[in-house]
Amino acid sequence: MNKSLRKAIIAGNWKMNKTRPEAKELLEAIKPLVANAEGKVEVIACVPFTNLETAINTTAGSNVKIGAENVHFEKSGAFTGEISADMLTELGVEYVVIGHSERRQYFGETDETVNKRTLAALEAGLKPIVCVGETLEQRELNITEEVIATQIKVGLKGTCEKCIKNVVIAYEPVWAIGTGKTATPEQAEEVCAFIRGELAKMFDKATADAVTIQYGGSMNAGNCKELLAKPDIDGGLIGGASLKANDFNTIVQAAVEG
Ligand code: PGA
Repeated sequence: MNKSLRKAIIAGNWKMNKTRPEAKELLEAIKPLVANAEGKVEVIACVPFTNLETAINTTAGSNVKIGAENVHFEKSGAFTGEISADMLTELGVEYVVIGHSERRQYFGETDETVNKRTLAALEAGLKPIVCVGETLEQRELNITEEVIATQIKVGLKGTCEKCIKNVVIAYEPVWAIGTGKTATPEQAEEVCAFIRGELAKMFDKATADAVTIQYGGSMNAGNCKELLAKPDIDGGLIGGASLKANDFNTIVQAAVEG
């Protein structure tokens, strides 16, 4: 495995946090801190829909890229409350989180809807960050690999070999999200390597080696170095710690140092 074959990506997932003035303030604080990551590590902030325009204006000309936290799979129509991929690209959004466990848990997201959203995002030119991960119950039942394999196979069904290079996979064990319980670097590496193996079966080894796989779930300034040192962990999807400029930057710098 050669990590240099793929892009290191540190993405913040702000979830349902920050008004527009607060978003501007946080991004203004993050921008100068992470400027040295340019060309080495992709730095992304995935923000609520209402903050997208502010975030794009605030980060213009910097190396901080902006992502959304969800996208609908239809192009347009009678889908009250939803946002299409074209609406996002028109704003200048580059990335979108798809299938986050909170959406699976609270909003009825399934592997099938993850698949539809992923294909719609790719078609519109967005780069999806597709989230997968097992619950504590599934881990204890020893079915982590089955669960992850299904999420990957169904979630990425129909993705062409060329398109998969624009997909980021985020492995986020549900039991580690927002709980302060991080997977050990060994546990995280084991599943990230398994995901790469599944991608190699679906596509081929060279293609799988080029896909960025992130770890997410209570990654923070204290534990990021060890996690990011693992051969198949190419970055992080960061919730709580992405809301603090210094903590987020510490994670970015750990990825820069590689
Ligand atoms: P956390 O969230 O870092 O707060 O655990 C990660 C995520 O949900 O993406």
